[in-house]
Amino acid sequence: MKRAKIIGLGAYAPKRILTNADLEKMVETSDEWIIQRTGIRERHIADDGEATSDLALRAAQEALERAGVEPSDVEFIVVGTTTGDMTFPTTANVLQHRLGCRNAGSVDVYAACSGSIYSLSIGAQYIQTGKYRTVLCVGAETLSRITDWTDRGTCILLADAAGAAVLRPSDDGSGIIDTDLYSDGGYWELLYQPAGGSRNPASHETLDRRMHYAKMKGSELFKVAVRMLEDCSAAILAKNGIKPEEVDLFIPHQANLRIIQAAAKRLNMPMEKVLVNIDRYGNTGAASVYVALEEAWSLGRVKPGDLLLLAAFGGGLTWASALVRW
Ligand code: UT7
Repeated sequence: MKRAKIIGLGAYAPKRILTNADLEKMVETSDEWIIQRTGIRERHIADDGEATSDLALRAAQEALERAGVEPSDVEFIVVGTTTGDMTFPTTANVLQHRLGCRNAGSVDVYAACSGSIYSLSIGAQYIQTGKYRTVLCVGAETLSRITDWTDRGTCILLADAAGAAVLRPSDDGSGIIDTDLYSDGGYWELLYQPAGGSRNPASHETLDRRMHYAKMKGSELFKVAVRMLEDCSAAILAKNGIKPEEVDLFIPHQANLRIIQAAAKRLNMPMEKVLVNIDRYGNTGAASVYVALEEAWSLGRVKPGDLLLLAAFGGGLTWASALVRW
């Protein structure tokens, strides 16, 4: 079986920037508190009328151009998102049409913030089995649409962006070495959106009770998140006989700088080897790891032969890791 190799990356964030100073005018908070407790300074927020597929389209077009791949060559599109344009059709389906990928099947993956590595993993399986030769993996969110802008516990964190990766079979042994996916639905109450699905369909009551916004038990989730990031990272390294010091770059989900620092410390990973861009993006859910990977590549922090460790966690709870030889 040939490994799946990332041959093109793209990323896009909406033009509009919301700073901590802007948030100070909206809720009882401060720039100092947000920086100290989360590491976030600013985030990108979609304009009215700008939906998840609009961001996904920009990121995917960039990834395809950089890969030198024609839309008609794409055979499968997998989009990680929790904030699709509509309940159905899927955002992957919308993207397939807008990109002109006329020969592609398409599917959305709902795994909250782990949708980045979940989508990458699912795409990679189709390449490895030989079923498809060209797969487009995307993570895209407009989390601002399910953010309660009166809830200071969540509105300081959530943001909008998209990232994309084009996969092809590898001829030289580089590529995605392994991925691991985990879930434990017993933790669902730590982070969820109560209404809008079949449990609590949209009604005047659900609107009045603000049930269409993400609800989070932040400090409980914090502790579980650190453990999950550490566990899934340590497990994939051990399984593949790799020591933490052999990793060139650790790219974790950008949810909170303190979560990243705590997980890195437990893994004996110096912060110089950790990609952090949460200061400028906030938590962009399923887009986060793609956007961070694209930034690492753009800045020349990823060189051929480098070993990358990716790890994410999110509502559900879900968590996931990936090892990539660049
Ligand atoms: O993709 C996965 C999604 N989410 C996460 O991974 C989030 C994980 N959790 C976190 O990032 C953190 O728990 C938060 C950033 C949400 C909160 O930070 P914390 O250090 O856990 O604070 P806390 O919830 O324990 O609250 C400490 C204090 C409280 O005040 P009292 O009760 O001590 O008086 C909060 O009311 O900070 C207060 N507080 C705030 N103060 C200023 C909570 N949010 C804010 C705020 N500004 N935005």
